[in-house]
Amino acid sequence: MTPPFSYRGGALHAEDVPLEAIAKEFGTPCYVYSKAALVSAYREISDAFSSIGHLTCYAVKANPNIGVLNLFAKMGSGFDIVSLGELQRVLLAGGDPSKVVFSGVGKREDEMRAALDAGIFCFNIESEPELDRLARVAQAMNRKARISFRVNPNVDAKTHPYISTGLRQNKFGIPYDDALRLYEKAEGLESIEISGIDCHIGSQLTELSPIVEALEKILILVDTLEERGITLSHIDMGGGVGIRYSDEQPPEMAEYAKSLITKLAGRPLKLILEPGRFLVGNAGILLTRIEYLKHGEEKNFAVVDCAMNDLMRPALYDAYHEIVQVNAGQGKDVYEIVGPVCETGDFLGHGRTLGAKEGDLLAILSAGAYGMSMSSNYNSRPRAAEILVDKGDCHVLRERETLASLTEFERLIPDAAQS
Ligand code: LLP
Repeated sequence: MTPPFSYRGGALHAEDVPLEAIAKEFGTPCYVYSKAALVSAYREISDAFSSIGHLTCYAVKANPNIGVLNLFAKMGSGFDIVSLGELQRVLLAGGDPSKVVFSGVGKREDEMRAALDAGIFCFNIESEPELDRLARVAQAMNRKARISFRVNPNVDAKTHPYISTGLRQNKFGIPYDDALRLYEKAEGLESIEISGIDCHIGSQLTELSPIVEALEKILILVDTLEERGITLSHIDMGGGVGIRYSDEQPPEMAEYAKSLITKLAGRPLKLILEPGRFLVGNAGILLTRIEYLKHGEEKNFAVVDCAMNDLMRPALYDAYHEIVQVNAGQGKDVYEIVGPVCETGDFLGHGRTLGAKEGDLLAILSAGAYGMSMSSNYNSRPRAAEILVDKGDCHVLRERETLASLTEFERLIPDAAQS
């Protein structure tokens, strides 16, 4: 495979294109994705799970650009959505609605109706009132809604608390001990068709044991349901497989697959996976330019032209992203890499060694997942452009927002209201 990001002659390239050239043509800050990396991550999953019936449902929230979705759709991917907006993106991108699962604790009635209309595969139900609501909505539409319950297995995913979802105290899923009762209730509902069982214990998992423990607990439920005459046809193990940002040692996809496949052996259950970060995280970088090198009393600052509004993960989770120079520089100093936003929390990296001068380009690595998707217009900053590199070609997946777009939906107070 063409390496997604590599140095050639001292200059960092995205596939065959120098990042310097991308900055020149499209400006900074700018997200740059490698098509080869997206394709290869998708294939890694398909290959690892090829021995069992499975469906990859890409978690749209990780990177919802329709160009990215279209690429996965063409490879046969399904999608995990959490809103009407995400459903619309999947449909616009040519995604197959019959491969869509709908997750999330707060599905509105209009979202349920639209998903039923589109003919999605399955609703991942997260509470009893949600089941009641879906049954009512489907009944009124004269439809049957296919469901699974997202069960909270109460296992510690050993990840950042903000992205850990499988503990009893989290808002996600139905309590484990309620599952049998709810499946029996669902069975009695005319407009509901039970298809499977679901769980997602958290994101950026770097250990296998919590997911295996969750699967074991889910399989106990599957067996108990079977004894009571409720046969499931799929099991959805969510997403969560971690990637390497610095020195983490996330499980290899093949190893992850092997442990799930071993547990599922001999069961006629189709496996659904909802990977987000694994598919896109290391396929993208955020390209930024140094505006100022500022030598403070205690610290040096490299003030760059991207900020927490472009990449929120460092500010929100204290997340580490490797930051590298696009072209080799001279001299060395330790810098706080910060953006122009008026908050001390606006940092991209702490204590990084650079040999750089003003105007130099930096690449913030592993920014393909939850980068652009969590961006905002804070400080009235237009969102960055998104570029996909395919060997020697660049494709604009999203234009840089304009100043005009910032106020597009705003209105002045009419004169009469002011007096
Ligand atoms: N399925 C469900 C139901 C989810 O809630 C999530 C992520 C996924 C799948 C995909 O998980 P992944 O494979 O990407 O780990 N903003 C955070 C991550 C939030 C994850 C939310 N749910 C971050 O930047 O680390």
